[in-house]
Amino acid sequence: MPQPARGRILLSLTGQDVDHWRRLLGKGYEVVTERAYPSDPSIDYAVVWKHRPGVLSGLPGLRLVISTGAGVDHIFADEDLPDVPILRVVAENLATHMAEYVVWRVMDHHRQGATYRDQQARRIWREPPQATASEVAVGIMGLGRLGQVAAKALLSLGFGVNGWTRTPRSVAGVATFHGEAGLKDFLAATDILVVLLPHTPATEGIIDYDLLRGLRRDNALGGAVLVNAGRGRLQRQADILRALDDGTLKEASLDVFEEEPLPQASPLWTHRQVFVTPHAAATSDPEHLAPLMLEQIGRFERGEPLDNLVDRQTGY
Ligand code: NDP
Ligand code: OXD
Repeated sequence: MPQPARGRILLSLTGQDVDHWRRLLGKGYEVVTERAYPSDPSIDYAVVWKHRPGVLSGLPGLRLVISTGAGVDHIFADEDLPDVPILRVVAENLATHMAEYVVWRVMDHHRQGATYRDQQARRIWREPPQATASEVAVGIMGLGRLGQVAAKALLSLGFGVNGWTRTPRSVAGVATFHGEAGLKDFLAATDILVVLLPHTPATEGIIDYDLLRGLRRDNALGGAVLVNAGRGRLQRQADILRALDDGTLKEASLDVFEEEPLPQASPLWTHRQVFVTPHAAATSDPEHLAPLMLEQIGRFERGEPLDNLVDRQTGY
């Protein structure tokens, strides 16, 4: 005899395969994609990615909101967010993909990919001087679930690694700095800046011209480099362009943008020192995430502690 469904999950997803998610989460839970009526009391859980603002408010039975992404800024964009716990789920393969992206971009800048692509286009056979990884310091802003895996991968390749966080952190092999007070020293010791911060009120627009001026430019790479795979609203694109044009920055790899998709008219598309990817550094895989979500819901129902609860005060 089929077991009665234990609870109801509302799926509110933008740009994701809703049917796929429904199949994966439908094990023991009834999954719906719309509220039956505005104050539908039968919804226990909401699984969301860029949900329609207001869709969660007024659900009297709602007990937990779960993000399909590692970032939760899309949830806080809803001004009518009900006062229930918010959970994010970070699958191991998401962190692996992010580490791959970071290593790829750091290596490409380190091994002068832009110079070689330019030389090849012009059929130039020339070997420029090459720094060694141990002469280059990569500074990671945000040493969380993703930043720590990226740091480990970079350390294994011989790069020096610095990390900047909000609270004091100790990570093996990484020179750590924190808070406003630690930022200047962190930047001054960094040649390649990798941004893996969440977008919160405290980090909005943090990557501006002044911050980029603080990076070490007189270095083995011949300039400072920016890699941003955190969120677009962490950066001021006009400042990045200014920094590239006046030599404050040598090159940049950007996966995220103030406006996504990056508008056709953006000068970033064609800038010779910029490498653009379409918010693709690390993609959440429903096959990996759904079992973790179901596990967390099970824990929630048994009153057990949850992993990765979001702090409403800090916004991540
Ligand atoms: P975590 O919450 O695990 O880590 C966040 C890190 O940022 C922590 O080290 C935290 O410091 C630090 N931090 C937060 N606020 C501040 C601040 N004001 N000043 C200094 N440091 C701060 O997040 P994840 O590692 O899981 O993910 C990071 C981000 O990556 C996500 O929020 C998302 O925006 C982005 N992302 C991008 C993807 C892409 O494809 N481009 C894919 C997935 C995620 P502390 O350690 O002190 O708490
Ligand atoms: C995420 C993302 O936050 O894909 O997971 O950006």
